[in-house]
Amino acid sequence: MKEIYKAIERSAKRIQEAIAYEDTGYSENQNQTGDTQLKLDIQSDLIIEEEFAKVSSVKELASEEKDEACPLHTEGKYLIGYDPLDGSSLADVNLSVGSIFGIYENDYSGKNLKAAVYVVYGPRVEMVIADEESEVRMYKMDKNGTFHFAQNLTLNPKGKLNAPGGTQQQWYPYHKALIDSLFSEGYRLRYSGGMVPDLHQILIKGGGLFSYPGTLDKPKGKLRMTFEVFPFAFIYEKAGGAAIDAKNRLLDLSPAHIHDTTPCFFGSNDEIEKVKEVYAGK
Ligand code: AHG
Ligand code: MN
Ligand code: MN
Repeated sequence: MKEIYKAIERSAKRIQEAIAYEDTGYSENQNQTGDTQLKLDIQSDLIIEEEFAKVSSVKELASEEKDEACPLHTEGKYLIGYDPLDGSSLADVNLSVGSIFGIYENDYSGKNLKAAVYVVYGPRVEMVIADEESEVRMYKMDKNGTFHFAQNLTLNPKGKLNAPGGTQQQWYPYHKALIDSLFSEGYRLRYSGGMVPDLHQILIKGGGLFSYPGTLDKPKGKLRMTFEVFPFAFIYEKAGGAAIDAKNRLLDLSPAHIHDTTPCFFGSNDEIEKVKEVYAGK
């Protein structure tokens, strides 16, 4: 696992440089989800592929930016599902973006996720790792591109932040009622449109709710299990919070295809209980 973390660190340094100095425009290609890829999406994907190619324990890669999973080292033990650049449409407005990695064994089901890592490219570059070894831990990159341990991260039982994803016009009425009830309890809106910085903020500030629900136009939500949802579900659970699809634990789900999406809710235990109450029987 150590060599995988090191490859992520090397990728992070290279991706940070690309974001800082290279073209933030679109390419002419679309990915499997139908998103037009930015040049930075493609470049970040290539960087990550190059770095994992040097790690013999990686058997296969599944990227948000590639239609199919691609084999790497036949003798390897781990499958890596990753989003090379999350929130990439925010790169041109100079907001924070990220990379997300799920490290799996055997297949890309939630129960086979062994470790999860994300990197935030903001005013600073930070990396968060969760695995079976110890607590959820955050590292900061120094000016030479080396990461140093900064602190462990834990969620309080209840938070103050509310990050409601999706288009409000397309929300189910009971979902709108849930979001409104949190605001009327005093929760503050904190939403950038990038799940990495939005979930990072909730984690650093101790708690709250991030939601990307099923909607009238997209009943299965937008966010992808393999690359985005499972890694964050793992990190939130390990930090003492919870992550559900509205009713079930996200890590009990398995995608039929690597690009499958699911509604998702990540947060402190108190907020997740509220979600369950509102969605029970819907
Ligand atoms: P990506 O840039 O990898 O396609 O992911 C963007 C995701 C996620 O970061 C964010 O929470 C969500 O898309 C926002 O989507 P909408 O603005 O379409 O609701
Ligand atoms: Mn993404
Ligand atoms: Mn992406």
